[in-house]
Amino acid sequence: MSKGTYYITTPIYYPSSKLHIGHTYTTVAADAMARFKRATGYDVKFLTGTDEHGQKLQRAAEEKGLQPKEYIDGIVEGIKKLWETMEISYDIFIRTTDDYHKRRVQEIFKKLYEKGDIYKGEYEGWYCTPCEAFWTETQVTEGKCPDCGRPVELTKEESYFFRLSKYQDPLLKYFEENPEFLEPVSRKNEMINNFLKPGLEDLCISRTSFNWGIPVPIDEKHVIYVWLDALSNYITALGYPEDQEGDYRKYWPADVHLVGKEIVRFHTIIWPAMLMALEIPLPKKVFGHGWILLEGGKMSKSKGNVVDPVVLSERYGVDALKYFLLREYSFGQDGVFTNEVLLNRINSDLANDLGNLVSRTVAMIDKYNGGIIPEPKVDGEFDEDLKHIAVSVSTKLEEKMNKLDFSNALEEIWKLVRRTNKYIDETAPWVLAKDDANKGRLDTVLYNLADCIRMISVLIQPFMHSTTRKIWIQLGIDHGQGTEWNDTFHFGKLPAGIKVNKQEPLFPRIDIAKELEALAAASGVKEEEQPKEEKPIEIKPEILYDDFAKLDLRVGEVLECKKHGKADKLLVLQVKIGSETRQIVSGIAKHFKPEELVGKKVIVVVNLKPVVLRGEESRGMILSAESGEKLSLVTADAESGAEVR
Ligand code: ME8
Ligand code: MG
Repeated sequence: MSKGTYYITTPIYYPSSKLHIGHTYTTVAADAMARFKRATGYDVKFLTGTDEHGQKLQRAAEEKGLQPKEYIDGIVEGIKKLWETMEISYDIFIRTTDDYHKRRVQEIFKKLYEKGDIYKGEYEGWYCTPCEAFWTETQVTEGKCPDCGRPVELTKEESYFFRLSKYQDPLLKYFEENPEFLEPVSRKNEMINNFLKPGLEDLCISRTSFNWGIPVPIDEKHVIYVWLDALSNYITALGYPEDQEGDYRKYWPADVHLVGKEIVRFHTIIWPAMLMALEIPLPKKVFGHGWILLEGGKMSKSKGNVVDPVVLSERYGVDALKYFLLREYSFGQDGVFTNEVLLNRINSDLANDLGNLVSRTVAMIDKYNGGIIPEPKVDGEFDEDLKHIAVSVSTKLEEKMNKLDFSNALEEIWKLVRRTNKYIDETAPWVLAKDDANKGRLDTVLYNLADCIRMISVLIQPFMHSTTRKIWIQLGIDHGQGTEWNDTFHFGKLPAGIKVNKQEPLFPRIDIAKELEALAAASGVKEEEQPKEEKPIEIKPEILYDDFAKLDLRVGEVLECKKHGKADKLLVLQVKIGSETRQIVSGIAKHFKPEELVGKKVIVVVNLKPVVLRGEESRGMILSAESGEKLSLVTADAESGAEVR
């Protein structure tokens, strides 16, 4: 009894040995959506995979002295393993180096060529290798890619072109007639105003200057442009064009392509134009989600500021990380990641709200009813309100999920979590337990709590299914005992008489201060390693040599050093200068311990007029170099008394 089919895709990832939580964000979202649709009765196909061709990868392999495929295979294994760790429930993992894909992309090329939408010409223009993107003269500013800001390369070669310009008007019309095709709205406006309205140029879709790609079927010295190859994956994976009866017929058009905002242009201009040229339907929706940023900007491997999803999921559990990603950030917008936001979110929503609710309830059932979920008997105040909220969550959740509003979908569930916790405080079972006359009421309260937890466990299943199972173990239930999606619309589906099993807390409370330190130590990116901005120095007015010569600078050896008895900032030093030893008071106590300075050969201004500082005489001054908070003494490897010039 399927409600229909649902085809959802992530982009196919560039093989990169270190996927960070930004990459994981797209798959985690797609996974939640896929699980939600399966739970609510759809026949789901969830595709992910890897995008393995192109100049960038060929160069990366060459640098390692490997063949591209050899280089990529290992990385792809790692990506599959990451998705396994993150419990991503994909149905298809496509690699663009798979034979079936290469064959089908060549078929697609031929179809477009035969139709006249591909022609041969010469490309002269700019290419951004990291983005694998062509740019026109007007789009490039100061030799930089308008997307990523890295330098572009001038390319001039014989190429095949796709008649993208022909699809400008049909695309504009399509955008107008299908307001839900691209979301959020801000991205739609950007595509229309920045790309479609100014006009589309034909797109260069083959390269001859390197060979790591799918050969153009009619001209083997060309390889097909990597984006044409990659975008086709969404249909080659379903059998197109060879087999248009099986999965292709069943699942195409896709219900949604989830993509990061930087690749929206490829998915909503180039891809739909290709599909129009092939005369097949367009995806129902492309959703361009925001970026997860670090305080210093976008995460990137080259900047060394990536956040490793494996490290985080090992420390806090996969479910906590997934919950955090979907709850903390609004899907269409950028958000900033810090360890602190992560830990606060885990503590407040998972350890406190959900974890405590389950622990407290199970503990009370243990204590007040021998561990058996009681039959409800006596209704009372607060029950109506609790039940009303409980049974209304699924409808609201579905509404939010269908808008890909993961954060508010989770918030709907948490309204129930918090309401249920409040019910404990309102009904105060520990007070009811003091008087046998209240046993009937106490039973009802305990039952209502357990039943709300049952509902919550089913509602969170698309987002954190391991936690669902853990809760079922604690409640002593299994599949079929109020655990279907439809059971979340009804109160009272939890069978009474079942024995609960008290377990470890679902989410142990984190000591945030301690954990932040541990994370900083584990991340390996140290403050000092970051390049500092060089500030211009301010130079004092010019002097003559005679002015300089008035200073008598000497090397002095520190013989003794102690703190000044009356001033925290001052040290009192005995410094040997030649045959003479003098006392110098210096304001450097914040930077040095007295014993550190003994034996140092410092530079002293010896003809400075003596002063008395808080009761101690100072005859001379020690030179130091100061930058920001840091101070170091100017030292010399010379005899004490030596003149400094
Ligand atoms: O673009 N925050 O692959 P990819 C949020 N191969 N999302 C992020 C992110 C961040 N900091 N960093 C990356 C490609 N992503 C192409 C796609 S599809 C036919 C070809 C997301 O490995 C990014 O936005 O560079 C994209 O959705 C996904 O990770 C894969 O990026
Ligand atoms: Mg990218």
